[in-house]
Order: sequence, then structure tokens, then C-alpha cells
Amino acid sequence: MRPDPLGFLGDELNALKSQGLYRQLRVLSDEQKARTCVDGRIVVNLSSNNYLGLTTHPKLRERALEATRRYGVGTGSVRTIAGTLDIHLELEQRLAEFKKAPAVVVFQSGFAANAGTVAAILSKDDVVISDELNHASIIDGCRLSRASIKVFPHKDVDAARRILRDLPAGPRRLLITDGVFSMDGDLGVLPALCALAEEFGCIMMVDDAHASGVFGANGRGTIDHFGVHGRVDIQVGTLSKAFGVLGGYVAGSRALIEFLHHRARPFLFSTSPPPAVAAACIAAIDVLLDEPELIDRLWENTRFFKAGLNTLGFDTGPSESPITPVIVGDAALAMRLSDELFDKGVFAQGIGFPTVPRDRARVRTIVTATHTRSDLQFALDVFAEVGRTLSIIRN
Ligand SMILES: Cc1ncc(COP(=O)(O)O)c(C=O)c1O
Repeated sequence: MRPDPLGFLGDELNALKSQGLYRQLRVLSDEQKARTCVDGRIVVNLSSNNYLGLTTHPKLRERALEATRRYGVGTGSVRTIAGTLDIHLELEQRLAEFKKAPAVVVFQSGFAANAGTVAAILSKDDVVISDELNHASIIDGCRLSRASIKVFPHKDVDAARRILRDLPAGPRRLLITDGVFSMDGDLGVLPALCALAEEFGCIMMVDDAHASGVFGANGRGTIDHFGVHGRVDIQVGTLSKAFGVLGGYVAGSRALIEFLHHRARPFLFSTSPPPAVAAACIAAIDVLLDEPELIDRLWENTRFFKAGLNTLGFDTGPSESPITPVIVGDAALAMRLSDELFDKGVFAQGIGFPTVPRDRARVRTIVTATHTRSDLQFALDVFAEVGRTLSIIRN
């Protein structure tokens, strides 16, 4: 028998186990909702990005079913060959109106939107100036573009300015930040970065994955929240989180969108989103416009839960959004906290290196609009009990 050429993977997995970083996938056998069945037990679910509860909203469900009856389940082609359905165009039109942008292109995921866009618009002679905590899809897009990557410390606008000042004139520059940082839940410094981009003639790009449906009027995102419409050249959003479905999009000028039709590799070389997905996303926009009270409820729940964790003495970091980390430092402790919370009926995933720095391991929580007060109080009580048992909090 030949030696297994993938044998080294077993060693890698053992190393993860010894560092307490090995995770079994948890399995839902019910809908993605506030209280659901995970690994066979009913738990309060604080682990999804389903901010507004739209994964199970009746309007989205109905539109997805209607679209499936009318168009079938798949598109059978990439967008540029035979995979552009009229509902893809309707979704793009609706998103452009929603985002107050001239045009939009939809991708199969937010990941594909970020990576595909950055890789398409930059080449090896160009420079990206990127916040150190930007999402992995941005980092991969930067690497794929082969542009030089200059990373500035998190939200440090002065450091970004120094990088720009020292760059030779000539290369194209892309200044890029997340709107909401996905692990700490803090906001990008959009007004200051927009000013910097204007001063140095950079392309300004914002990844608003966690802000879509959460920040700004009717969930239009951080560009709306900070009032910087017209100052961000490339806005990326996701349809997979607050929108409750799947996909990502880029909003910007018509030239940008037409260029991406010709050069963004996920658009050219990967099959387009299924009809049910496109139809449910259109319904999600309707819900954001018709039921803004869902966003209000998300924020009320966020304030209640964050205040509860802080009163108990947990370190919730710099969060300004419904993403509320409970930072404990050591990865093994974070995983233990997550496991013990789960045993007592609260699902909050532990997160360690490389997703967050080695000494900033945490349990990450996200409340949704659909959690009840009693769900959240129950979760706080369990956090208090387990936090004391593990000596993470004292009182
Ligand atoms: C900041 C950020 N950008 C982009 C993405 C990718 O979005 P999607 O899940 O739609 O691929 C994520 C998802 O984890 C994210 O957190």
C-alpha cells in the first residue's frame, strides 16, 4: 500500500486538538431561529447572523416557493452564458434603489463579492491599504489581485495616512475597510477614511456584510449610518446575514458594475444564484422597507443583552453592534465556556486563532430581533452561572 500523501493532515488535526482549537460541527435539525434544536437539544441560539429573523419570515418563504414553482430549482448556467434570469435583474435593480447607488451586481456570496471585486479591479502594479481586521474575503481578494498589500493597525487613520504619504505617485490605490468588524462588532471609521481617500485620490471600498439590514435607515448600512453616500466607490453587502438568504452584492457606478460583469471571476465562472434565492432576497428588501420595527427590536435586544453581560462583569470589547463578543483570552477557556453554555441550553460559538488573535479568544454572541426577553434573560442567567464556575467573572 502506498503511504498516504495526506498523512500530515492528521498531525495538523492533532495539533489543533492539543491547543483546544479542534471543533466538531454543531448540527441544527430545525429552522435557523432564536430557540432551535442543535445537536439534538433545544437551545437559545446566539450564534447566527440571522439578525432580523428573516430566514423563516413567511414572505421570504412564500416568494422562494413561488419562484421554485415558476423557474425550477437551479439556473443551470453562469450569468454570462444562460444563467441570468429576469429576477436576478429585478433583485439588482431593487438593491440599487435601496442602496441609493447607480447600479448593483449580485454574487453567489459576500465572500465571492469581496474577493472577486478586489481581484478584478487591481493588478500587480497597484496597492491596497487595508485595515488589519478586514474580513478574510478581502484579504484573499487582495492576494489574488497580486497588488502590494499595506496593512494599517485597526482603525488607525494616521497610520493609513503615513502609508499613503510614503507611496510613490502612480500606482492605483484601494483603501478598504469593513463597515462592521465581524469578530469585535465595532464600526469602521468611514468618515475619516473617506476623507483620506479623497485627499490621496484612492478608490474607497467598504464591506458592509454585517451592517446590511442592521445600520442606517431601513438597514441601508454604514454608508447611510455615517451619511457618506457618494463618497464610497465600492460598497459590498451580503444577502446571507440580516437578509436571511444567501449571496452578496456590489453597489457602485455603472462602469464599475459593467466592468465586474466582464472581469469578476465568480460572476464569470460560477453558476448564478438559484431562483428561490433571488426571489427571497427581493422579499427581504420589501420586509426591510415595510417592517422597520424588526430593526428597532434587534437594537432593543442588543442593548438589553449587552448591558446584562457588562453588568455581570464580562469583557465585551469595543462592540458597537449586535455582534457582542465575550472575550476570555485563552482559546481552551473560550471553547470550555462555549461547551458549558451549550450544556446548559445556550448556543454561543467559541472562536480562537486564526479567526481572532491568539490572546483574544472568545465566545461570540449575536442576538436577533426574534429573541424574546425571556430567551435573553435565560441566556444571561446561564452566562452568569458558567462565568462564575470558570472564574471568568467574580460577582
Ligand atoms: C465582514 C464579512 N464580509 C464578508 C463576509 C462573507 O459573506 P457571505 O457569508 O455572504 O459569504 C462575511 C461573512 O462571514 C463577513 O463577516
